[in-house]
Parts: sequence; structure tokens; C-alpha cells
Amino acid sequence: MAKANQNYLKLPGSYLFSMIGKKIGEYQQQHPDADIIRLGIGDVTQPIAPAVIRALHEAVDEMGSPDTFRGYAPDLGYEFLRSVISRKDYRERGCDISAEEIFISDGAKCDCGNIQEIFDMENRIAVCDPVYPVYVDSNVMAGRTGAYDSEAGRFCDVIYMPCTEQNGFVPELPDQIPDLIYLCFPNNPTGAVMGKGMLQEWVDYARLHGSVILYDAAYEAYISDGEIPHSIYECEGARECAIEFRSFSKTAGFTGLRLGFTVVPKELKADGIALWPLWARRHGTKYNGAPYIIQRAGEAVYSDEGRRQVMGQVAYYMENARIIYEGLKEAGYTVSGGVNAPYIWLKTPGGMKSWEFFDALLERANVVGTPGSGFGPHGEHYFRLTAFGDRERTMEAVERIRRM
Ligand SMILES: Cc1ncc(COP(=O)(O)O)c(C=O)c1O
Repeated sequence: MAKANQNYLKLPGSYLFSMIGKKIGEYQQQHPDADIIRLGIGDVTQPIAPAVIRALHEAVDEMGSPDTFRGYAPDLGYEFLRSVISRKDYRERGCDISAEEIFISDGAKCDCGNIQEIFDMENRIAVCDPVYPVYVDSNVMAGRTGAYDSEAGRFCDVIYMPCTEQNGFVPELPDQIPDLIYLCFPNNPTGAVMGKGMLQEWVDYARLHGSVILYDAAYEAYISDGEIPHSIYECEGARECAIEFRSFSKTAGFTGLRLGFTVVPKELKADGIALWPLWARRHGTKYNGAPYIIQRAGEAVYSDEGRRQVMGQVAYYMENARIIYEGLKEAGYTVSGGVNAPYIWLKTPGGMKSWEFFDALLERANVVGTPGSGFGPHGEHYFRLTAFGDRERTMEAVERIRRM
């Protein structure tokens, strides 16, 4: 008899976004004329840059001609894309990452979720609290965690690293030593960043204990402060202890096109076993590559024109972030993030619970955000707003919140 993977039953359900959808639906039904502004979900709104659109058209035409048609992409991605990434994202920043160490995929979410497969089931994971849920849930599905404790809002056998106002939403080195450490900076949901000195401490800690850091840099394009590292490989020794995830979603608006990559250095080993061949094997066996036309679109992001255009989009969103941050601060809210990240993390006023604030904001301002408690227990009494909206609507949302 077939048996289901019962680890899936440990997951409490996608409560957060289904609950948000349900509450909006109910409100809209009772108030059909309400003009609701959504600053909740982290999806972009600006169209794809013209240089990227041109590359897409050209690549589509190539697919229609027998001389230039392409079938399956190479397992690890096209050389033209891997080499431009190696050069522009890494070598020009002083990071020694070769094209061969870059694995092209259709986005960071699947890579963040799949990477755990190349590690032993006995590995203990550490995650930030609050956290982007993919890191935890993918390990739950694999059976690497215990049961869910609904009182605590946590899974057993996971090391949660609190990110609080006191530590600037940057976790401290844990006392219990984890095998796998998930870090995401600039952070979703808090918008916090980690300075180079602190990141170096994490790298040193991981090397000392034989841990591997799984570093999600999906939002690196939003860093404006020259002192903040864009890549973990800016730290000494990171080639021996870290894997890095990158995404074109928030960098260049590819949430619908789908493109990302993962860096696995050749030196990286877990208990003496090199991880590059394992990830190459996994990629080759379970994945048939991001589409040629999308990889060409990704290449165009690195052209001078493409780079200028996507940086313009990032600047547009960061101006939204500034408007939200400044507007709420002036209105007396305690806000953080929003400077090197497209997320604004605000403390709910008067000790309100995250969901209470969600309801108040929906009812009194017709604005939707994301309750911080949905990202983990330390997100309680916090709320996330995103800078990915349209400018006028963002300004209107801030005005409405100020008038509340
Ligand atoms: C921290 C983080 N990592 C990864 C992703 C997923 O990126 P992608 O669209 O490339 O799958 C997101 C998307 O919101 C994210 O917030």
C-alpha cells in the first residue's frame, strides 16, 4: 500500500496568505466600494526593462529558425549567462567565483527549498525568527524537524535565532551549534542588513564548527550603503563554508519570467564530502534548465543599458520605501528596514497584536500589509509593508495610515 509522506502533515497550513486573502474578501464583500491598497505581498509592479524585452524578442526569433533553434539547455545553465554573472556580480566585487560554480535555475525559491536534499537528515538547522518560511517548511517536508508546537509557533529540533529590536534584527551566534545556518540579508521580512564585520563572524563561526551557511541574497540589488556586503563571498573563508542564492525576481522584475542561480564553491565540503558534485548531480537529475529565452533575458540585465534600466526600477521602489519609512516615522510609528531593502518593518502601535493591526489598517485605512507574526513568534507586534507598489498608491496608502 502506498504511504504518504507524513512529514507534510506536520505543516500547519499556509495560514498567512490564505488568511489575508480571506479577510480582504470578506471586507470587500461588505464594502464593495472600498478602494483597497495592497502593500502586503512581495511582488513587483514595474514592467520588464526595454533592454530585456528586446533580448527576449531576439531570443524568441532565434527559436523560430532552424539554424538558431535551441533545445534543452545545458544542465547547469548557458555559459554566456554564467560567465557574465561570474564577472559582474562576483569578480568585479573582488569575489573569486568562477562561471563553473554558478548553477542557473528558475528562481531562488526552489533552490532554497531544494538545497537541503544534499545534506544528511541528521543535520540540525538554524533559522532567523522571523523568517522567510521556505527554509523551515522544506526541512519539515524532508523530515529533518520534529512536530509543530502550536503554542510556541515553532517546530521541535530547529534552532530559532531571535531577531529583535535589541539586536537590530540581526541574529546572534547561537549557543547550540547548528549544522546548516540559513541567513537572508537584506532580510525578508524585517528589511535588516548585516554588516561585513558581523557576516565575517558568521563565516568564522561556521568554519570553526564545520557548519554550512545557506545565504539568501535575493535582495542584494537594494543595498545602497557601500559598507554592506552584497555577497557572502566578500568575507574571507566563505568559499569553504557557504552556498549563496540569488534571484532576478526583485533585481530585474523577473517574478513572472523566472530566473535565479545558486553558487556552490568547489572547495565547499560537508564532513569531508565536496558539495559541488552533489548539487551538480541533483540539478542534472531533477532539473532540465531555465528556458533559453529567459537566460538571454537575464544576460541583458548585465548590459550597460539593461543595468541602467533595472537600477532605475530599484531606485523607484526604494523611493517608495523612503516615502513609507519617513511618512510612518513622522506619524510616530517605530519603523526599521526600508533603507537597504524593499521591506519596511514597523512596530504595531500601543502593543497591538499583528493581526489586530492588520484588521485596523484594513478597516480604517483600506490598506493591506502582512502581519509580522506570520513569519514567526518574534514577528508578533510587528507588521511588514512592501515598497513594490505603484508610487501614487504608495503615497496614498501612507497618507491614509497617517490619518488613522
Ligand atoms: C528571501 C527570499 N528568497 C527567495 C525568494 C524567491 O525568489 P524567486 O522569485 O527567485 O523564486 C523570495 C521571494 O519573495 C524571498 O523573499
